[in-house]
Amino acid sequence: MIAPSILSADFARLADEARAVATADWLHVDVMDNHFVPNLTLGLPIVESLLKATDIPLDCHLMIEDPARWAPPYAEAGAYNVTFHAEATDDPVAVARDIRAAGAKAGLSVKPNTPIEPYLEILKHFDTLLVMSVEPGFGGQSFMPQVLDKARIVRNLVDAGELRLVVEIDGGINMNTIEQAAEAGVDCFVAGSAVYGTADPSATVEKLRLLASD
Ligand code: DX5
Ligand code: ZN
Repeated sequence: MIAPSILSADFARLADEARAVATADWLHVDVMDNHFVPNLTLGLPIVESLLKATDIPLDCHLMIEDPARWAPPYAEAGAYNVTFHAEATDDPVAVARDIRAAGAKAGLSVKPNTPIEPYLEILKHFDTLLVMSVEPGFGGQSFMPQVLDKARIVRNLVDAGELRLVVEIDGGINMNTIEQAAEAGVDCFVAGSAVYGTADPSATVEKLRLLASD
């Protein structure tokens, strides 16, 4: 699956920018609160508007503090997948439960330097694991291949039937890096600048998908 990140889109034309990636599987929406990360993007009102403007399932990536309080409303609004950060809460399982109860898939994200081992036991409560391959906060950064070990560990558990979840990667994914992520067992690839930085974003989504499935 390919999930273009609208962080690299024109925020004044979000409905058009969603239409420009009609071939996408998910539309990745980066919510930043200027506390968990040093950047501020958009929040619930814009997600609600976007939900009316597109049929592509919204993959909301919450880079925010206090997800216990702020994450469930994204699920209630109709987001398909709501991912929050392991580093932002002491009780990720409770947050996942609330997201699922509100009708969305629940995702756990880990920053590049956060090990996955302490979370393996709780991944059964999640539908998605989002492995960050850049420090969260900004688009256009370089891919960090060392995070792929985390994808490999979780891929093996999925293949062994011990877990059922989507392994997603976010940060620095482009034509040059997507294949190594695919080889590590990633199922879903977020790409911001690599998609919206091209003249035909929808065609780029198709090209990325082809490279990932080779
Ligand atoms: C970064 C965001 C990413 C970002 C990726 O904090 O979570 O989703 O949009 O952008 P690229 O693909 O340009 O690295
Ligand atoms: Zn993201």
